[in-house]
Amino acid sequence: MPLTINADRLRADFDALSAIGAVAAGSDNPGVNRPSLSAAHLEARRWFLDRAAAAGLTTQVDSAGNHSAILPSRQPSARTLLLGSHLDSVPNGGRFDGALGVLAALEALRTLREAGVALPVHVEAIDFTDEEGTLVGELGSQALAGTLSAEALRLPRGGRPALEAGLARAGLDETQLAKARRDPATLAGYLELHIEQGPRLTQSAIVIGVVTAIVGITSYRVTFTGAANHAGTTPMDARRDAGLGAATFLLTAREMVVRDFPGCAVNIGQMRFEPGAYNIIPSLAELALEFRAPEAARLAELEDTLLSLAGLVARQSGLELNIEPLGGCTPAPMSYQAQAAIIAAAESLALTHTELVSGAGHDAQALAPITPAGMIFVPSRAGISHSPLEFTAWDDCVNGANVLLRAALILAEAA
Ligand code: GLV
Ligand code: MN
Ligand code: MN
Repeated sequence: MPLTINADRLRADFDALSAIGAVAAGSDNPGVNRPSLSAAHLEARRWFLDRAAAAGLTTQVDSAGNHSAILPSRQPSARTLLLGSHLDSVPNGGRFDGALGVLAALEALRTLREAGVALPVHVEAIDFTDEEGTLVGELGSQALAGTLSAEALRLPRGGRPALEAGLARAGLDETQLAKARRDPATLAGYLELHIEQGPRLTQSAIVIGVVTAIVGITSYRVTFTGAANHAGTTPMDARRDAGLGAATFLLTAREMVVRDFPGCAVNIGQMRFEPGAYNIIPSLAELALEFRAPEAARLAELEDTLLSLAGLVARQSGLELNIEPLGGCTPAPMSYQAQAAIIAAAESLALTHTELVSGAGHDAQALAPITPAGMIFVPSRAGISHSPLEFTAWDDCVNGANVLLRAALILAEAA
């Protein structure tokens, strides 16, 4: 009989973890608020290590704060197969994003340990630091891959004060983060189970998504500066209104991406005006700009287009423009070997599957340049995510965890 995970044990863990940082607790679908390195996030990470230790697994925290449970191979010199995701959430997010992947990885290790399977690789369930980018974005996975740049730490998209406070709360030393780098020769691959966060699986009633590539993401802080003046007495055609520049930029950027960049996305997730009063023309508008594309060349084109647009809007509105690059992550194709393992695993369970590009960022894209990386998606109800309304049916979570376990076995045996 092929191995399957213990669904009741996974469910008990899922419910216990969902209570840490719960929002709208008591509703039948609560969300979680566990921004990276917040008290709730750190509590969730401690809980994860406790559960791993209780299962007889080896535990480890690296210098970038990545938390791991390890099932060692009997061959000490074996390579390591990583299975993981993240326990941080966006502010007021859902309880499935990231958490499902970490818990399914832990459950896969417990199942393998109980079955006494002798594996030619160490298997490690890893919870990466700051996937969501409340601070930097994919901080832990980039550190492990050796691609965390000094620039990303100097200008983190969540701002330096938040990064410094988070690292201090977690007892992490910024100068040591890069020491989490692993030699690619020590790795056998990386697999991540995740909810789709979009509507394609649910609309097509397919159970398993096999991710072929993950979009690249770039962030900028864009600031338009005009002149504060009286809101009532300044003629409408004589204003240097930073708010108008910001709004024009937002609407035009959206229009251009819809028209000229199919498969890409732009988002302005925050807009802050100064001085910020009913009766003063805004002198400053600061925007959190993020855009995504599935290929590097397309991401670069999109970047040129959006930055040129910001320049044009500023010139036409008599505003000054300041643009600050805040880093991001590159688009990544998933490994064919990992995709084949996921397909074989889904077929062994008689689960329907389809190929998908991920429009969301994931730690798998940071790992892809250094080791064969693959992702398994399960359906998101109504395609909703980054919201407490995020929901995945429990049977789909269990199916995904079983695909993860079997794909891991396939990759382990091939290693
Ligand atoms: C991560 O979840 C992202 O896509 O922003
Ligand atoms: Mn995620
Ligand atoms: Mn997310």
